[in-house]
Amino acid sequence: MTSGLAEADWERLRETAREAMGRAYAPYSGFPVGAAALVEDGRVVSGCNVENASFGLALCAECGLVSQLQATGGGRLTHFVCVDGSGGPLVPCGRCRQLLYEFGGPELVLETPAGRVTLAEMLPQAFGPEHLTK
Ligand code: THU
Repeated sequence: MTSGLAEADWERLRETAREAMGRAYAPYSGFPVGAAALVEDGRVVSGCNVENASFGLALCAECGLVSQLQATGGGRLTHFVCVDGSGGPLVPCGRCRQLLYEFGGPELVLETPAGRVTLAEMLPQAFGPEHLTK
């Protein structure tokens, strides 16, 4: 599945995610993570995980990414990549799938170790903003 995005653009997202991973603060887990996503207006946003001595307060890379998205003008995420310390693709954790759903919805395309899939496939029957207005 190419999902309409050129391979060069996927590579750019991977590179941006790897750069962010290189700036991760993960002294407790030793597991740096980087994430990058394309926004519908062409912007690329990214984030890295930031841990804390109070372990449960760790911020996933996706938290930084959605914060940057909003702080730089908002918009909808269309394509997303997350990488681990080796630079290879990583699946977002459950909480982060929900974070991504808020800003990308079911059509967001994610690169995963199992290939490119939609968020609808990774988070079936998602709870989202639409439920609050019913
Ligand atoms: N982590 C992320 O940044 N994103 C994910 O989707 C999975 C987990 C981070 C959190 C923690 O700092 C480290 O990976 C180990 O769980």
